[in-house]
Order: sequence, then structure tokens, then C-alpha cells
Amino acid sequence: MEPNNTDKTPRHTSSFLADTNGEALQLLNEHCQHSVICGQLTATDAGSDVTLTGWVDRRRDHGGLIFVDLRDRSGVTQVVFDPEHIDAEGFAAGETMRPEWVILVDGKVRLRPEGTVNPSMPTGEVEVLLDNVKILNSAKTPPFPIEDGIDTDELTRLRWRYLDIRRPEVLRALVLRSKITAAIHRAMDKRGFIEVETPILGRSTPEGARDFLVPSRLNHGNFYALPQSPQLFKQLLMVGGIERYYQIARCFRDEDLRADRQPEFTQLDVEMSFIDEEDMLGLIEGVMADVFAAAGFHPSFPLKRLSYAESMDRFGNDRPDTRFGLELVDVSDIVGKSGFKVFASAVASGGVVKAINAKGAGDLSRGEIDKIAAVATDHGAKGMAWIAFTSKGEAKSPIVKFFSEAEFTALRERLDVQDGDLVLFGADAYDEVCFVLSAVRLYLADLLKIDRSHHEAIWVMDFPMFSYDEESHRHVANHHPFTRIKDEDLDKLESDPLACGSYSYDMVMDGFEIGGGTLRIHTREAQLDVLKALGFSEEEALRQFGFLLEALSYGAPPHGGIAFGLDRLVMLLGGYSSIRDTIAFPKTSSGGDPMTGAPAEVAGNQLRDVGIRLA
Ligand code: AMO
Ligand code: AMP
Repeated sequence: MEPNNTDKTPRHTSSFLADTNGEALQLLNEHCQHSVICGQLTATDAGSDVTLTGWVDRRRDHGGLIFVDLRDRSGVTQVVFDPEHIDAEGFAAGETMRPEWVILVDGKVRLRPEGTVNPSMPTGEVEVLLDNVKILNSAKTPPFPIEDGIDTDELTRLRWRYLDIRRPEVLRALVLRSKITAAIHRAMDKRGFIEVETPILGRSTPEGARDFLVPSRLNHGNFYALPQSPQLFKQLLMVGGIERYYQIARCFRDEDLRADRQPEFTQLDVEMSFIDEEDMLGLIEGVMADVFAAAGFHPSFPLKRLSYAESMDRFGNDRPDTRFGLELVDVSDIVGKSGFKVFASAVASGGVVKAINAKGAGDLSRGEIDKIAAVATDHGAKGMAWIAFTSKGEAKSPIVKFFSEAEFTALRERLDVQDGDLVLFGADAYDEVCFVLSAVRLYLADLLKIDRSHHEAIWVMDFPMFSYDEESHRHVANHHPFTRIKDEDLDKLESDPLACGSYSYDMVMDGFEIGGGTLRIHTREAQLDVLKALGFSEEEALRQFGFLLEALSYGAPPHGGIAFGLDRLVMLLGGYSSIRDTIAFPKTSSGGDPMTGAPAEVAGNQLRDVGIRLA
């Protein structure tokens, strides 16, 4: 009796490869011993002789017949071992084989008998009646099932990542990444960009994060640094007359890791000469239209633009998730003179009071409101005042009593309050309020289950050139020290650096910074001035950046560029929650690779070679 498969959900439906990569698979087939790929057989193949290779996905014995689901990267096909049709040796092989064994089979495609068709499986109409089988390798029982939707912890999956990659959902991310990378190469080539590789062993330059260092064997006591980005090399390529450069570049930053940060990650790195900001944004939008399209995202261009200041005002950060409202509204002028001391004193000391109207949250329980307040205090707030406007028309709050009739009415109007709304307040210095309320805003979006299944990409522009670092008591460059200050602000460089704007632009998607760039300084004098504003003496500047300053004095063209985080892009376009999902062999949050054991100790003679003794 044939097994009845129709009631089973297949463990693999990876026809995505057949859809998107059919031509490539055909080429692969022409040069391979197997003639058809497992996931691609359909009713039109019935009658063909095929050779298939792959892994045993599962094996079932049914009334004298053995069924093996054979899997390769394109999907799964059912192979039938019929003792009436094959020799005893072939049937015995079928009886011994276990999941993940590697086999080669010859057979004939046939339509499945009536009643055994599996419509939820791409190859569910057919099966392969086995003629010959060859076992190419056996396999130990895998530490987790090779299928989608498993709840195995990530550490275990990364320890056996090569098995994890056999799972369709992991493979799918790598395929998407490959498609996006291919689209990037096409988009750049089409626009006349030249791909140039830059060194991995470079010199340490302060670029923001901590460097990974590589000791030099030939020059004891000296170190290479792995590049945080190819920033200075791409600028030198502009001095070299390349005009349009790109590279899919590996970057290394020794920083604390998060879901959207890895110690090594990949950028689409771009630089162009003789462009202004509009040329740059227009051209990059063209590139990104092609890249987004490769993943099925078709935003309308030109993208919306927000200034840094507006982004901070309305969303509380410079990488806003603009797919929903819940914007921050300044109410300092309304409540600054009110009888509520927390608000009055925040405003009196130069701070602000901002509020979010969480529409539809007015009937939340006290406990739920306390949880929102906990998000605020976790982010450093001293408290979170609130007013709940219940759907019954009451205003419940410990603080309403402090407001005059006029203040209360003005608040309602400014915040567009209706019955059923919950208003949440932050009162403090501007930066603190932004930081706290932007976190509260994202928490509310989750709490209120606001739909964020679509994508939205925007530009955030015009960042201040510098900010003040309280720890080191000096000015630091917001983007990097090679960024050009707005022409109209150049006269403030010495007197009021914090008031200097810059030609800068980040592309932000769904609340993540996916790319960032600037126009660059292209004269030696201007570069030296900015380095001085950052606290470098002239000698120090020459020691660290002499090669750049020198290059700028040999006819450097006006130029600018941008870099996109490829891993983040794939994460967002593929709907993943971590960039680790988009990287074949990622590092864990403690920076390790559980499979190879990196980082690891090295032998004493290796250390001696490079002149290092461990403390
Ligand atoms: P920036 O430092 O903003 O700019 O980096 C550009 C983009 O790279 C991504 N990114 C990261 N992705 C994963 N893990 C990390 N640790 C990580 N750090 C950054 C982000 C970010 O937008 N040289 C400049 C670009 C330029 O000015 O042209 C630079 O590297 O998506
Ligand atoms: P208190 O008078 O300190 O009991 O605070 C009254 C209300 O104001 C409480 O709900 C506090 O959580 C809230 N609150 C205290 N400090 C702040 C602040 N900096 N911003 C917003 N609300 C605050």
C-alpha cells in the first residue's frame, strides 16, 4: 500500500530556489552528475529518468515499501524503494540508511498514485521509483532536527552551524544575501563604479570604535589595525582619480555587541568625486532602488527626508522608526509654569517637558501603566507622569490636580486627546527626555501591537559636526573627522563648534541605521582645522594623519561617500531579528565562534615570534 501523504505538512517547501534561481540551477545541472534537483520535479517530469544526490531527510517503512525523502538545497523529493523493482542489495541499503546520510539515486519520475498526492509540497505530485542507490556517506544523528521552526538554542545551532545551514530557513537568508550582493554589483557596474579592494592590514586611526590589533612579526612592538571601514583608503582613491569607487568591504570593530552589531561585518562602501549632496542622494537612491527591488521592496522615491533636529524632536532619536506615529510633542510652554513642580523645575533649569499620546491606551490598568513607567526609569528617567483619559470620559492621574483649567485644555488640544487616550510625560534635559521617550515609544508600539510588517526607508540629514564627550571632556566628531562642515558654519569652528552643521546623511529603515555618509573635507587646511578642533596638536595630527593631509595637498577633488551595513540590510529585508541570522558563521554576543572555538590561545612560540609576552 502506498502511504497517504496528503495529511502531512512537508518539512520543506523550499521552492524559493527554484523560483529565483532556476537558470543558475540549470547551469549547475549541466555540469553535474545529477540531472535534476530534488525540489524541482513536477508532473511534467513524469517518465523521465533522473539521477539525484542529497541527504536523507527522513525514511519511512510502509508495508514492504521504503520511502525516502531526499533533500538537496532546492527541496525534497520522495524516492520509492520497491523490492519488486530493485535488487535485494538496493533494498537492504534503503533499510539501513538514516537521516542525513548522503546518497545518490537513479530512478524514474512517476505520478503519485491517486489519493497520495501531497498538494502542500512543491514536488508532491510525483515520486521517483528507485532503480539504483549508492550510499556516499553515513552520518551521526544530528544534535537537532534539520527542519524549520525548531526551538534549539542559538549557541547549539552555531556550534554545529554547518548542520544549521542545511535547514531551509537558514539557507534562505544566505540566498537572499547572495541575491542582494549580486544586485549591488549590477547596480554599481551599471553606474560606472569601479570595484577596488583596500587593505585589511592597516594602521590604527581613531575612527570611533576600538581597533582590532595584529602584532607585526617583522617589526616587534608595532601593530597593524584591522579596518573599521575603508574610509581613508576610499578618499585616497578619489585623490587617485578613480572618481566612482565601490567595494563590498569587511569591517572590524571591537565594540560591545548587540542584535544589530557584529565585531566583523560587511559594508557596501561607496565614494564619488565632483558631486554635491543632491547628486549623491539621487544616485544612491537609484542604487538602493535596484537593491531593494532584488528583495521585493519597492519604496517610492525620492525618499522622505528629516533633519537630525526634526528627527530628535519628533521621535527622540536619529534612527526613527517612521512606520507609526506616537510622536513626541513638546509641551514645555504649556506646563512650564504650572503648579506641578517636576515640570516647572525641568523647564526652569533649561530642560523640556515632552509627551506622547498613546492613542487607545487610556483604559490600561494601573499595573500596565507602571510597566511603561519602568521602561522610562530603566532608561534613566526619574519618573514618568501620565494622564489616562478613559473611554468613560474621566481623566485619571495623580497630576491633573496641579494644572489650571487653561493649562489642561491647552494640553488636550496640543496632544489631540480623545477619550480612550493615555498621555505619558518626560521632564528633564532635552537629550535625556528624547532618550527616554524614544524607548517608551518603541515599547508602546509593541504593547499596542501596531502593525509594522511593511518597510519604510528615509534620509536623516544635517547632523551636527561635533558633540561634546563628557567622559573625555572634549569635542568628538559625530560621523568622523573627515566630514565637511556646512559652508555657512565654518566661521563658528573655533568659537562655537557645537553649532557647526555638517554635510551628512544617514539612510534609516524601520528604526535601524542602514547606511551613513558625508561629503568630505578636500583641502589640507580645512582638515587640519577640524583635527585641531578635535583636540589634536599639529604634530599629533601630522603623526596620525600625515599621509591624508599630504594627499589632500596634491590636487584632491571635492568628494563624498556613504556606506551601507549589508548585514543589517539583509536582516530587515528578510524579516530577521538579528544580523547573526544573515551571516554564515557569526560570532556570539561575547564575540566567540562556538564551532571553531575562536578566539583561542596560541602557542608560546607564536607569541615569541611576534615579540609578545602575556601579562
Ligand atoms: P558608519 O560607521 O556609520 O560609517 O557605518 C556604516 C554602516 O555600517 C553599519 N554598521 C554595522 N553593522 C554591523 N555591525 C557593526 N558593528 C556596524 N557598525 C556599523 C551600519 C552603518 O550605517 N566610513 C563611514 C561611511 C562613510 O562616511 O562613507 C562608516 O563606516 O549600517
Ligand atoms: P513625585 O511628585 O516625585 O511623586 O512625582 C509625581 C509624578 O511625576 C510621578 O508619576 C512620577 O513618576 C512623575 N515624575 C517624576 N519625575 C519625572 C520626570 N523627570 N519626568 C516625568 N515624570 C516624572
